[in-house]
Amino acid sequence: MNTHFNRAVSSAPAKVILFGEHFVVYNNPAIVTAINKRIRVQAQVSDKSNINIRSGENSLSVPINSNDKYIMSLDNSSIALFPIFKCAKHVFKEKNISNLGVNLEIDSQIPHGEGLGSSAASCVSTVAALYSLFSDLDKNLIYETARIMEQNIHSNSSGVDCYVSTFGGIVNFEPDKGFRSIRPKKKFTLLVGTSGIKHSTGKVVSQVRQFREKNSTVFKDLSSKAEVICKRAISSMNEGDESELGNLLTENHKLLSLLGVSHPEIEKLIEISLDNGALGAKLTGAGKGGAVIALIPQDSSKEILAKIGSGPGKWMLVEFDYDGVILG
Ligand code: PMV
Repeated sequence: MNTHFNRAVSSAPAKVILFGEHFVVYNNPAIVTAINKRIRVQAQVSDKSNINIRSGENSLSVPINSNDKYIMSLDNSSIALFPIFKCAKHVFKEKNISNLGVNLEIDSQIPHGEGLGSSAASCVSTVAALYSLFSDLDKNLIYETARIMEQNIHSNSSGVDCYVSTFGGIVNFEPDKGFRSIRPKKKFTLLVGTSGIKHSTGKVVSQVRQFREKNSTVFKDLSSKAEVICKRAISSMNEGDESELGNLLTENHKLLSLLGVSHPEIEKLIEISLDNGALGAKLTGAGKGGAVIALIPQDSSKEILAKIGSGPGKWMLVEFDYDGVILG
């Protein structure tokens, strides 16, 4: 099969978990949204059957038929690009192409390893750019492929990161029911603060599993409270009730602290945001480091960012993204 184009560019958004992380692993709901920070991938076909990837300071240049073990034996800067390599190799194999290669340039606005879905967004964006060399954009195909690629990397991945990165918007995810879109009545503005402390989702998830085994009654109680919070959060978004939504974020954070997944630096960021006018705040993602989200009143977002931004953590103003993956 031949490519239709030699070059394609696509970008896909990051995500934040608004409500329900960890409990979602045990069949509870979670609410996740795409945010307007993106990873952009430019794919250029080359006549040498190599995969060359450049992303900031990281780079990888290997024959297209290299195996996983070989990539994992390279230096950290190459290993960081393993998910992107997997996506490229997969698409070329599926299209039965062995005589060509590809140069991939990655440009990211998403901090890595802080629970903002950078790995999912890079898979979605890479797969989209590569498929668009052959045919029109098919979001269902992009989602399915990126989800499988991500599962190669995080075997327990629910697919929710890839889903919101592909389709955009806010979704209520229930493991046994799937994804349902939420359409809030008004625009919400969030601050995302990153602590700079990288976390390993797998490690934190297994700590929570141990907590659950040792404290099953406490876990059940926290879990049912988290479920109620998710339901109330859907209503407050539907009604555009900013102040109730803020309170629910803080309530959800308290449950996560009791679960043992917060961190002193995260507590600091939450306290600073609440002291400076946030309507509510919580950690987002696996915790034990990573990022926090704070809901702030839209009309004073710039002033609040200026105040909070002068303290610890790195802060950015974000809005919900409704586009998902796009070309160009
Ligand atoms: O990988 P992160 O930091 O976005 O967090 C994963 C969310 C968890 O609920 C902790 C795990 C999961 O698979 O849902």
